[in-house]
Amino acid sequence: MKILFLDQSGKPGGAELCLIDIAKPYRDSCLVGLFADGSFRNLLEENHIPVEILTTQAIQVRKESSLAQGLGSLGQLIPLITKVVQTARKFDLIYANTQKALVVGALASFFSRRPLVYHLHDILSSEHFSQTNRRIAVTSANRFASLVIANSQASQTAFVAAGGRPEITEVVYNGFDPKIYQSHESGVSQIRQQLGLDGKFVVGHFSRLAPWKGQHILIEALAQCPLDVTGILVGDALFGEQEYVQHLHQQVTALGLEHRVKFLGFRSDIPLLMAACDLVAHTSTAPEPFGRVIVEAMLCGRPVVAAKAGGAIELVEHGVNGFLVTPGKPDELAQVLITCLKEPEKTGAIAHNAQHTASQRFDVTAINQQIAMLLNKL
Ligand code: UDP
Ligand code: GLC
Repeated sequence: MKILFLDQSGKPGGAELCLIDIAKPYRDSCLVGLFADGSFRNLLEENHIPVEILTTQAIQVRKESSLAQGLGSLGQLIPLITKVVQTARKFDLIYANTQKALVVGALASFFSRRPLVYHLHDILSSEHFSQTNRRIAVTSANRFASLVIANSQASQTAFVAAGGRPEITEVVYNGFDPKIYQSHESGVSQIRQQLGLDGKFVVGHFSRLAPWKGQHILIEALAQCPLDVTGILVGDALFGEQEYVQHLHQQVTALGLEHRVKFLGFRSDIPLLMAACDLVAHTSTAPEPFGRVIVEAMLCGRPVVAAKAGGAIELVEHGVNGFLVTPGKPDELAQVLITCLKEPEKTGAIAHNAQHTASQRFDVTAINQQIAMLLNKL
């Protein structure tokens, strides 16, 4: 099957990393069209997935845009839509991976008469999107998509609550190759040494720096933990959240945590860094649509504590394969961190259980088969 994948981002967020795994089996006959250039393109190229930058002009719609702003940007999309329509004629199917890709893909699907699939990686709620953006996404999907693949039940439920047609939706979790998450002990001790983490209880946070990802909650929790508890924050501001980055650094200084919190920036060696942690924390203050980092921590055999909302609840069962805490409550998070520090055996058993079940439940081969079956039905 010849698939034209569309994604608005040039940067590798979770939705883009997921797309790499989905596009890989189709790499001999697909194209990934991007609406921005960036390191995501390099990652696709490294994976031998054909990629083309379809526009370099920024699309001025933001998550909180009004209807007037949304309509105003439509004119600016005409050259891009024309290009996507022409390109789509060479493919059997259009697969939109983000919301702006959905809008462009919907029009291209109409003009090129190719079926449209929308992979929904977002929770379409007021916490994440303006009413206008939700309406545009739901209307485009309802009217033009043959299939909406939701990355969790939480994303599916929000889509339906926002007016989306339930009969076109299917839930498919992100897939992972468990092998990638196995690290050698020597590499792990080397990186711990390099980062000055020897003898510490290391709590890792792996996420782009953005207010709703809640890095500030972890920093506040660390201040309530014993002195040997150290945090590493892995990730960068991908979408212009510079003010938040500044705020995090000020918070660290104000709490006197300069020696206990390290900002590592964006990294490509996530499995090794996760393996170097004693625990991985997920602290999103708004419901997480899926939460790749939660599954990745499990696959690395590290205990994970996640914010109890959205897709995270589908991934973690408290006390069985990880821990859940109320979002936005640093005191509660600190209590879990301290318990894990004090009870390494019990926590280790939970992490071991998580590794075993996650490697089966999220196996990329099985997930790709699930997607192939859905696409073949179209
Ligand atoms: N990630 C990465 N380098 C970093 C920080 C994060 O490669 O420095 C990856 C992380 O391993 C995960 C993805 O980025 O696969 C983030 O996906 P997630 O679903 O957790 O959140 P999103 O950013 O998509 O909302
Ligand atoms: C989005 C969501 C994230 C999810 C990822 C992959 O980026 O924010 O929760 O894990 O897509 O589906």
